[in-house]
Amino acid sequence: MTRKSPADLRSARWFSKDDLRSFGHRSRMMQMGYSEEEFRDRPMIGILNTWSELNTCHSHFRDRVQDVKRGVLMAGGIGVEMPALSVDESNTKPTSMLYRNLLAMETEEMIRSHPLDGVVLMGGCDKTTPGLVLGAISAGVPLIYLPAGPMLRGNYAGKILGSGSDAWKYWDERRAGNISDEEWQGVQGGIARSAGTCMTMGTASTMTAIADAMGITLPGASSIPAVDSGHQRMSADCGRRIVDMVWEDLTPDRIITAAACRNAAIVAMATGCSTNAVVHLIAMARRAGHDLTLDDLDALGRETPLIANVRPAGKDYLMEDFYYAGGLRALMKQLEERLDTSCMTVTGRTLGENLAGAEVYNTDVIRPLSNPVYKEGSLAVLRGNLCPDGAVIKPAACDPKYYLHEGPALVFDSYPEMKAAVDDEDLDVTPDTVMVLRNAGPQGGPGFPEWGMLPIPKALIKQGYRDMLRISDARMSGTSYGACVLHVAPESYIGGPLALLRSGDVVRLDLAARRLDMLVDEDELARRRAAWTAPERRFERGYGHMFSRHVTQADQGCDFDFLQTDFGRAAGEPDI
Ligand code: FES
Ligand code: MG
Repeated sequence: MTRKSPADLRSARWFSKDDLRSFGHRSRMMQMGYSEEEFRDRPMIGILNTWSELNTCHSHFRDRVQDVKRGVLMAGGIGVEMPALSVDESNTKPTSMLYRNLLAMETEEMIRSHPLDGVVLMGGCDKTTPGLVLGAISAGVPLIYLPAGPMLRGNYAGKILGSGSDAWKYWDERRAGNISDEEWQGVQGGIARSAGTCMTMGTASTMTAIADAMGITLPGASSIPAVDSGHQRMSADCGRRIVDMVWEDLTPDRIITAAACRNAAIVAMATGCSTNAVVHLIAMARRAGHDLTLDDLDALGRETPLIANVRPAGKDYLMEDFYYAGGLRALMKQLEERLDTSCMTVTGRTLGENLAGAEVYNTDVIRPLSNPVYKEGSLAVLRGNLCPDGAVIKPAACDPKYYLHEGPALVFDSYPEMKAAVDDEDLDVTPDTVMVLRNAGPQGGPGFPEWGMLPIPKALIKQGYRDMLRISDARMSGTSYGACVLHVAPESYIGGPLALLRSGDVVRLDLAARRLDMLVDEDELARRRAAWTAPERRFERGYGHMFSRHVTQADQGCDFDFLQTDFGRAAGEPDI
């Protein structure tokens, strides 16, 4: 293996020349108390930290960065912490998805404009993984992703609580009048009781598993609970390893190949991944120059059994159990025959080499392929006259009686309208009704919010129903469940056919045929299309204005058109 010399370092352009600019860069590093030998001729590692006091999942990152720096120093590099936009799920309105691309832009530009030879990306809460990775792919320097790790299991009154999933479940029971205020308070205090990301197989655990399977984390790093001392050791290992990656010039294009993206998709399907995985995985693959499509994902979904028995698609366990059962390496070991194990990873070894010795310690948590939780993978892609560019459903997380369903639509144009209706105990709704929320896509939401698990109307809750067929152009949380058709594309706000649906029209879902249609004849649809007028734009200024002009549709990954790799020439780096 050829190794870089100090003169080849990217940071040498800042620190090693005998000119006035370099004098300025060096003197300013010395302003911070560094001697020249501490930063010159050494890999400078940017540690992009998405910590903030409102990012509840990343609260340990304030300290964890010290472990990374320790590792960098031990390997002879210099680690510099750089704050990056702390896109958080729990406190961002209207939706964190509005800001994924802002983090991606920030990441790319921060790396490009600074004397960094490699980066450790510290993220984990849903949008931080794709945001950081998208930007770093485009920047092109060696990277390691450091996942925040899941929080401990939730606990209240002897019951185990899962992030998101149990909030929805207990909320429905509260609306049905089945639990007291005191119990509700207890659930509130017990459902998130340590640092770390949601500990169901929600979007965070899905996306960090994807990063792991792609080869951009240390092997198995995504499964380590945030507060386990192993997480600190893994963080220091990231610091040590990235320094060597710089000398080895192990850039992301050598790791994130088309085969690595496919591996990531297979692993996602086998984990019972969040529906959000589809959007982010397509965006990440495209940034790396590979055309991964919804149809590719549906095909992989059909042939990959779901083997992680982790909620919400699995029934019984949470991420802490998954880690004790062997974690992602053990899961990937089960899939070894289906994966391309020759893919290079951040360790400098292949995926296959990283999986050597991985074992399952609990076969009820990580099932053998012969005893899956669900025979197919997590997700299915639908098409039809309601969603010509696709829609996504998570069959494993819904009642099989909805796999083939016909019923009258009940259509809402906005979230507030829908919210008021579901609390109306006299709402005209039956168990067959297909509830629809539109204008909730990438532009309509705005920002593609997680509203797609539409609440079951109180009128049905009181009769004991807990599921019904729901359709929207929104996303849903990875911790959600139910018969929810999501990501309808093109979205209604820009005139997709969902905009033409009316309450009372019959909607038909046929999962086996992967179809979603409204049973309305073409002439009538043409009349409605001619009468449709575009709603007012959501934003007249600011970031939202840029977002709505440039965001692509769900089936394209919702990247900004101008950030996509094929949009134009990459930025040059003038030698100044
Ligand atoms: Fe951060 Fe779920 S809210 S991972
Ligand atoms: Mg989430």
